[in-house]
Amino acid sequence: MNATPSSNDFILQVEHLSMKFGGLVAIGDLSFQARRGEITALIGPNGAGKTTVFNCITGFYKPTEGMMTLNRNDGSTYLLERLPNHEIPARAKVARTFQNIRLFSGMTLLENLLVAQHNKLMKASGYTLLGLFGFPSYRQASAESIELARHWLEKADLVDRADDPAGDLPYGAQRRLEIARAMCTGPELLCLDEPAAGLNPKESAALNELLMGIKSTGTSILLIEHDMSVVMQISDHVVVLEYGRKISDGNPASVRTDPRVIAAYLGVDDEEVETVLTEVGDEDVIEQLDTGPDSAHGPGNTASMMAGPVSDSVEHANEGERVTVSKGASKAAQVDARAASVASKPQSAAKPAAKSGTAKAAPNKPAAKAPAAKAGSASKGKDTAAKPTAGKRGGRK
Ligand SMILES: Nc1ncnc2c1ncn2[C@@H]1O[C@H](COP(=O)(O)OP(=O)(O)O)[C@@H](O)[C@H]1O
Ligand SMILES: [Mg+2]
Repeated sequence: MNATPSSNDFILQVEHLSMKFGGLVAIGDLSFQARRGEITALIGPNGAGKTTVFNCITGFYKPTEGMMTLNRNDGSTYLLERLPNHEIPARAKVARTFQNIRLFSGMTLLENLLVAQHNKLMKASGYTLLGLFGFPSYRQASAESIELARHWLEKADLVDRADDPAGDLPYGAQRRLEIARAMCTGPELLCLDEPAAGLNPKESAALNELLMGIKSTGTSILLIEHDMSVVMQISDHVVVLEYGRKISDGNPASVRTDPRVIAAYLGVDDEEVETVLTEVGDEDVIEQLDTGPDSAHGPGNTASMMAGPVSDSVEHANEGERVTVSKGASKAAQVDARAASVASKPQSAAKPAAKSGTAKAAPNKPAAKAPAAKAGSASKGKDTAAKPTAGKRGGRK
């Protein structure tokens, strides 16, 4: 665990979360924290387990293992894995949107936002009678609900269309309406699953504005997103998943230059990794990756040592389960293995001392994190760093 000032600085703490579907480990021993009042982005390639994390947090799935602690602003604490899922929005104050839009398309925008306040209205109506006879308490609750709905319609720049059916809205506006609907439940943690998916740049900018507005009200946001323009512009903190494991965790700038993220998230060829690193100007990492292959121990220029499958293991509390990742071999694991290989290279075989002094061995990660790559000589920890351009590693997904 991080040595952090206080657990109350974090709205959400996820510890050792695992979720298995039969033999498939969708999430393996994942730990991360979301700071109160910040936007925390959860990114990673398709199938990395991001939506599964949301499904665990919001009670759609009961995790196989792990703890998810929600620290509310008033100091109360909830263990989400123990709460019945219908209590998670009401008591823990967690709201979410889905990867696929789920609106009542035949209802107006206003009605969609009133439905979201159903619980509050039902309670105020005494579960029908008080509402039926128009008791003042119900009328007041009803007026407040309409006021709240209008407030969020305004924030989402949708107030002009309050009485139109939701299904008539353009796609980007429907996304914003979903977020407005979630906000009508008064969440302290808002979980958004790919809200920018399919948006054009203008809609994306409107979304950024809406999310920054929500953040300014003190609501914390957990954001799954592929659109890097959204992630890099508005996130305070980024957690990167690949094959259900966390491969990077930090501020947007540090995550952006992490070679494991570039390889895993972008699913890029070796050549592109180098290009991206050059673009972001991370010379240390470039130098580290730029060490030539050792023909005595590894493949020559024609074949990358990373070309073969990589086996990785995801540990679980008691089982020490081994998950074999072959075909789609973890790109992050490959970068780790290569960095570890560079680090273990004797000085004499490496680049001139001045250069090797600047190289960060296995950047940002402890050496123990480097998985046991069994691809050829890499598994023996030999000095076989291949040139990034030596071979392809699977290409884009
Ligand atoms: N209900 C389920 N049953 C079986 N496998 C699932 C289920 N939900 C997700 N998975 C699997 O878990 C992995 C992670 O999926 P998901 O969380 O949707 O990834 P992401 O959102 O990062 O694209 C995938 O391999 C997916 O097929
Ligand atoms: Mg998903």
